[in-house]
Amino acid sequence: MNLPILEKVNPAVAALQPYEPGRPIEEVARQFGLDPEEIVKLASNESAIGTSPKALAAMQDALPESYRYPDGGAWHLRNKLAAHHGVDRELIAIGNGSNEILELLGHVFMVPGSSVVSSAHAFIVYKLVAQLFGVEQREVPMTSGLVHDLDAMLAAIDDSTTLVFICNPNNPTGTMVPNDAVCQFMEQVPEHVLVVFDEAYAEIALAPMPDTLQYVHDNRPVIVTRTFSKAYGLAGLRLGYGLAPAPIIHCLQQARQPFNVNLLAQAAGCAALDDDAFIKAGVATYHAGKAYVEAACRKLALPFIPTAANFMLIEVGDGAAVTGALQAKGVIIRPVAGYGLPQYIRMNFGTAAENECFVDALADVL
Ligand SMILES: Cc1ncc(COP(=O)(O)O)c(C=O)c1O
Repeated sequence: MNLPILEKVNPAVAALQPYEPGRPIEEVARQFGLDPEEIVKLASNESAIGTSPKALAAMQDALPESYRYPDGGAWHLRNKLAAHHGVDRELIAIGNGSNEILELLGHVFMVPGSSVVSSAHAFIVYKLVAQLFGVEQREVPMTSGLVHDLDAMLAAIDDSTTLVFICNPNNPTGTMVPNDAVCQFMEQVPEHVLVVFDEAYAEIALAPMPDTLQYVHDNRPVIVTRTFSKAYGLAGLRLGYGLAPAPIIHCLQQARQPFNVNLLAQAAGCAALDDDAFIKAGVATYHAGKAYVEAACRKLALPFIPTAANFMLIEVGDGAAVTGALQAKGVIIRPVAGYGLPQYIRMNFGTAAENECFVDALADVL
């Protein structure tokens, strides 16, 4: 079709490789003629134990209010988060998923001529946002154990750098940089750089999380991003947030849409924060899943990367081929060639039955 307007498309947008999500259950069922009920999806690091019951009840209560616009300032949720983290509400910005916070950082800090730094095998959205805003993206090799090399990341920073992304634990590798390494990094990082600690898995981390909020309290140029998608089982609602010194939060608020977070998500988020039992149940499930899948990998002589999150990388040789073969058996996991790791697959821990299904199918496929 000859549409002259297409010649005017922003070249940064035209060149973008879209984000490749885990495949939906219905789509895989259609492709392979499978019963959707029998498909196991361990591809998007979602909650293995469903949605927080407290959040579900709060959404039911809020449903009749859906004809009204949500509170654009997310008053209740920001207050609740402020109390939860022991910070002032002005230090919190709410997003339509933590992905929106990452995009808002692009709007505010990815200015012409700037550069951003991240690891080569880190969460891919940093790269996509940098491409969208047309800034230089410096990808730094990880250590041989697929852990962030914070010294190398420091070395990649120069005067043009505005953002450094530290995904901890990192998706897709599951590896964690510990507190002492973060402290050393923070002692050396130049003050003109905003350090982004993406802590999407913090509440369910299987190893101690570094104390990054101390830097927010100290008014350092740091933003900590969190999400309700993983630990609270609210991925479908899209709810995340960032914690940073008030002037940085103010910039993000300037750039966001007026009603960026919907009414049900705000109600669910407030209630979920009180659901400690749900978080505990999740952590226990992920510890058990990790132990089970690691033991299975040892039995199958498959190397894996020790994880601190609810997912892990397993070295299978040809990740794409194994992913395809598993799908045909009704098990959806994730190939990670797009992350520069074609020899691995990434699976997230599910229920005991789901983990067993995965391990049986993997043994068959290999
Ligand atoms: C490290 C990391 N950051 C951010 C996100 C995005 O989460 P959200 O659903 O809050 O947009 C994900 C989701 O997979 C993630 O793994």
